[in-house]
Amino acid sequence: MSNIAEINDVYKSFDQGEHHLEILKGISLNIASGEIVALVGASGAGKSTLLHIMGLLERADSGDVIISGVPTRGLNDIKRTKIRRHEIGFVYQFHNLLPEFSALDNVIMPQLVAGVSNRDAKQRAEELLDKMGLSERITHLPSELSGGEQQRVAIARAIANRPRLILADEPTGNLDEKTGNDVMDILLNMSKEEGISALIATHNNTLAHRMDRVILLKDGKVKGNI
Ligand SMILES: Nc1ncnc2c1ncn2[C@@H]1O[C@H](COP(=O)(O)OP(=O)(O)OP(=O)(O)O)[C@@H](O)[C@H]1O
Ligand SMILES: [Mg+2]
Repeated sequence: MSNIAEINDVYKSFDQGEHHLEILKGISLNIASGEIVALVGASGAGKSTLLHIMGLLERADSGDVIISGVPTRGLNDIKRTKIRRHEIGFVYQFHNLLPEFSALDNVIMPQLVAGVSNRDAKQRAEELLDKMGLSERITHLPSELSGGEQQRVAIARAIANRPRLILADEPTGNLDEKTGNDVMDILLNMSKEEGISALIATHNNTLAHRMDRVILLKDGKVKGNI
């Protein structure tokens, strides 16, 4: 299997006042094409930091992130944004939907930004929301949806442009157990169905072990697969 994403010896530290915090100390990992991987570790271990670096939202201090075979370290921000837009979808703990737009428009919008026609974007958005059991909710504003429904819209939005990689940061962290399970089902099923790889940070061990592999982040390093 080819790798959709590789992280090679990534270091990242933050200067906070007089403190120098070394968060990632030589992280290397691969996500194979179609593979769904859990990312676990204590609060503050650096999971979100790693996802931001992998998603090209932040730069590592050293080391490289390779997306679909393309090393990104030397690329300027415009090229990085282009790769991110085409190859990567994000899902966050709090849905981050645009509050003044309907569920449907929230899923249409990133497609228009990527150059998809109005008609095709609408059709794709309707299909995705339908698959997620939200066909009766497409005109609702985010504030008119439950937490689980909001997350399902956020998943539809993340995969609308057919990315090759989903990066999800505690996508069920804000939901009760049953709803969290249902949302994770949808995320895993849709990823498999669309052939998308995923790296999913979670504090929930039961959910983590439903994925193909679990990566534990500890003391700034990958402490093996568990
Ligand atoms: N922009 C920043 N400036 C300074 N410190 C930061 C910054 N971003 C993260 N940190 C620090 O890096 C460490 C790792 O943060 P990160 O958010 O990656 O952890 P996490 O594993 O996602 O934790 P959680 O499970 O609580 O979400 C924390 O100690 C945090 O304070
Ligand atoms: Mg985090």
